[in-house]
Amino acid sequence: MAAIVKIEELRVDYPASRHNETARTAVENLSLEIAEGEIFGFLGPNGAGKTSTMKVLLGFIPPTSGSARLFGVDVQQPIARQRIGYLPEQTYYYSFLTAEELLRFYGRLFAIAPEQLERRIDDVLKLVELEAVRKQRLKTYSKGMQQRAGLAQALINNPDLLILDEPTSGLDPIGRMKVREIIQRLKNEGKTVFFSSHELGEVETVCDRVAILHRGKLMAQGKVSDLVSEHQAGLEQVFLKIIGFNSEA
Ligand SMILES: Nc1ncnc2c1ncn2[C@@H]1O[C@H](COP(=O)(O)OP(=O)(O)OP(=O)(O)O)[C@@H](O)[C@H]1O
Ligand SMILES: [Mg+2]
Repeated sequence: MAAIVKIEELRVDYPASRHNETARTAVENLSLEIAEGEIFGFLGPNGAGKTSTMKVLLGFIPPTSGSARLFGVDVQQPIARQRIGYLPEQTYYYSFLTAEELLRFYGRLFAIAPEQLERRIDDVLKLVELEAVRKQRLKTYSKGMQQRAGLAQALINNPDLLILDEPTSGLDPIGRMKVREIIQRLKNEGKTVFFSSHELGEVETVCDRVAILHRGKLMAQGKVSDLVSEHQAGLEQVFLKIIGFNSEA
């Protein structure tokens, strides 16, 4: 299967700044590949380097060394990002917009033709189950609804690869289940999904493969079932063991 994401020996350093006097290495010697149609979970404690890795894929920050490719194209080239959708860790949308206005705004940024855009807006609102509230302002939405509006925005250009930075953070069990179902539906449509999460239970149910990052370094990767049988423990225990957390210490 073709690699949709290919990261090789990636290093990301944040230079010293006036507010942060010491330079910081966020990602070190990271290599990973994600195949077409995979749901790939990116795990790691706070500060592990997940968001930094995603920002490199999105072209927001340059790699210090190493390389990252999307669809075989180096991420430094804008064309690499044409077929991706992105849900940031924190979303800041104009709260006075309605969901359909938000999607129209982003659709225009992608230069989608007006008629096609209206059809696409209908489709994504249906997918994220916000059809009934499409004419309500985002500021009246609950966090779960806002998160799904963010997902709709990430999907407006019908991307082949979704990069979702903690798509279920702060959601209740129903909200999390809905996002999980959306990810599953995307997989059924043949999309590739790369998402970070701290919810190991959901990762276990939805992911084909996972990578565990700790202090910028890749500690493990593989199928959840393989990691679990290799370590003879549930994913949470595997995670804690891999990052060297000892609950008795
Ligand atoms: N703009 C920045 N300037 C300097 N250091 C940064 C910057 N962004 C992140 N870092 C540092 O890089 C490291 C990795 O951060 P990153 O946000 O990638 O982690 P993360 O795995 O996404 O964490 P979380 O689970 O908390 O979202 C951390 O040590 C962080 O302090
Ligand atoms: Mg993060």
